Amino acid sequence: MIVDQLKLINFRNYKELQLQFHPKLNVFVGENAQGKTNVIEALYVCAIGKSFRTNKDQELINMSSKQTYIKVKVNKVNDDKQIEVALSEEKGKKIKVNKLQLDKYGDLLGTLNVVLFSPEDLKIIKEGPGERRRFINNEISQIIPKYYYTLNQYNKILQQRNKVLKNFRGKAIDLEVWDQQLIDNGASLMIYRRNFIKRIAILAKLMHRKITEGIETLEVKYDSNVKVTEEDELKDVKERLYIKLKENQPMELRRRLTLTGPHRDDLIFKINGLDVKNYGSQGQQRTAVLSLKLAELELMKGEVGEYPILLLDDVMSELDIKRQNYLIKNLKNVQTFITTTMSDHLNIKTDMDDKLFKVQNGEIRRFSLK
Ligand SMILES: Nc1ncnc2c1ncn2[C@@H]1O[C@H](COP(=O)(O)OP(=O)(O)OP(=O)(O)O)[C@@H](O)[C@H]1O
Ligand SMILES: [Mg+2]
Repeated sequence: MIVDQLKLINFRNYKELQLQFHPKLNVFVGENAQGKTNVIEALYVCAIGKSFRTNKDQELINMSSKQTYIKVKVNKVNDDKQIEVALSEEKGKKIKVNKLQLDKYGDLLGTLNVVLFSPEDLKIIKEGPGERRRFINNEISQIIPKYYYTLNQYNKILQQRNKVLKNFRGKAIDLEVWDQQLIDNGASLMIYRRNFIKRIAILAKLMHRKITEGIETLEVKYDSNVKVTEEDELKDVKERLYIKLKENQPMELRRRLTLTGPHRDDLIFKINGLDVKNYGSQGQQRTAVLSLKLAELELMKGEVGEYPILLLDDVMSELDIKRQNYLIKNLKNVQTFITTTMSDHLNIKTDMDDKLFKVQNGEIRRFSLK
């Protein structure tokens, strides 16, 4: 899929902006704090319904305004889509697809698919399991809307169950109602995750092997809260969750917290058998994330039938020349948006006409290297 046009009104540091994009490559060049990431963010909001930088929608509204508006036109293989996101302090968030207002934000997912790669993504490897679960959730939600709804449902039940536990004062309490729903939704999430991780692991391994010219083997493994094997069906996972919930109950009552379920899942990354988080070099960690992102592109292509758009915020300068070249060479069929502070950092030997945008203080104009 291809984003053809973007329109912004009072979004971050843009008062008004209208851009026509190149179907392959779009490079945004500018000094710090000029508005490069803001453009990437606007595209992301149209795909996912919220920002990757903040949970507070209000921050997206230009300081001197009370509302903001984003519109993109997406060309897909079989149809075209127009996405509009309007945010205001009074009315909150309204999203329209082809002029029809959506009832639920989740209905937006899959309209415009996106893979984002920013320096923040190193957190997937370096930080706690929460980051890795966020990664899994974002990716599966984009491909399988049902997953997004199951996850929301699960989180609600988890909150309720935790509330019951928190209020526990030594008297018998009734967790049964919550347990059944926790198990049903939780097991379903775990099956989705197992299937997704199995596929992304194969693709990431392949990508990593290519990038490192066969020197490194990357493994991605699902570290699930209860065991989930390749053959397991939904009922098997439900059974295991049930048993573990019963086992954990005395401890849960003591700690007043739900200790069983996919909200405790994790992912493990290994390179040549060693844990990347603890033993990987900075470069290896970056390459592992790059492999993961390229794997996402392929997975989405396989699932959706066409490539998502790729947003590369500030990552080119963090990769060595070899990896930069590998990346660009492998993106021929993917519409890519790159931000960078230096145009000469871009080791791209393609014709750059129509692809370069100069970003300066909330304004964007085309420019040429010639
Ligand atoms: N709601 C807002 N209203 C007005 N200006 C905003 C708003 N939010 C952010 N900005 C401004 O946008 C600018 C930052 O934009 P952005 O993050 O896109 O920069 P950048 O070009 O990506 O910079 P860097 O190279 O440092 O990443 C800052 O100057 C910031 O003050
Ligand atoms: Mg930036």
